[in-house]
Amino acid sequence: MNQEIDNLGTGITEKVKVRYGAIAESATSSCCGPSVNRGGFSDKIGYSPEELKSIPDSADLGLGCGSPLGHDAVKEGDTVVDLGSGGGIDCFIAANKVGPNGKVIGVDMTPQMLKLARENAAKGGYENVEFREGSIENLPVDDSSVNVIISNCVINLSEDKNKVFAEMHRALKPGGKFVVSDITLLKPLPDSIRNSLSAYIGCVAGAMMRDEFIGAAKGAGFTDVEVIKEADYSQMAAAYLSGGDGCGCGGQLSDEILDVATSVTSITLTGSKTS
Ligand SMILES: C[S@@+](CC[C@H](N)C(=O)[O-])C[C@H]1O[C@@H](n2cnc3c(N)ncnc32)[C@H](O)[C@@H]1O
Repeated sequence: MNQEIDNLGTGITEKVKVRYGAIAESATSSCCGPSVNRGGFSDKIGYSPEELKSIPDSADLGLGCGSPLGHDAVKEGDTVVDLGSGGGIDCFIAANKVGPNGKVIGVDMTPQMLKLARENAAKGGYENVEFREGSIENLPVDDSSVNVIISNCVINLSEDKNKVFAEMHRALKPGGKFVVSDITLLKPLPDSIRNSLSAYIGCVAGAMMRDEFIGAAKGAGFTDVEVIKEADYSQMAAAYLSGGDGCGCGGQLSDEILDVATSVTSITLTGSKTS
């Protein structure tokens, strides 16, 4: 891999936006990285076949690392916000749960993702889903207006994770809760991975230590913070790390990559806003 091209450097959020824009545009192309996990991947991370059948095909880009909606947090009539909604997979599943009296708002910073998600909403005829352009560090959502916040494999990509949890707390109604699936670390990454742009895009290099992630939620004021699911993410992490931009298609794995991959864990965390 060309170290200069793969250097994380500065302007990380802009680089993330460019890369996820390309992923949205290549949503129908074939590769073995993040843009090609469509079909046969999401069922492995907790989505039921019925859920996947109920949404437009091109909403499932295989970019998640858990299934935040698999925990019965969302009820009929709720207002739900999805942080980093991508092609809309979780928004459409949530839309089916909240029904016509509820509302789902997907927030994403990448214009191409928003375009794809809006096309998917039109395809599926969803009238209770809206996609808003914005950052998860500055949610385009009113104070105390949301029942449930969900997110799937996005907070690790933020340069200011404490701000994201603070924004989640601001936007939730008292009594509201969050359920987020995300990548966390069991031990610190070596510099070569921590400074790699492709490892950042692949949701590894930007991940927080597991305890710090839980601490960030508590620090924002959430109560009853609890890990409700934990899954081994080592295989996926190894694939991303060995493939550079995610398109390496199965080369030999170095000892370093194998070691790093086993320190990556996917957790689903919940917490409540009491006041
Ligand atoms: C790994 S993908 C996950 C997409 C979706 N949640 C899923 O499971 O398919 C990350 C998404 O988050 C968006 N994103 C990353 N950082 C963001 C930020 N700081 N603010 C808003 N959106 C962001 C990207 O544009 C991309 O669509």
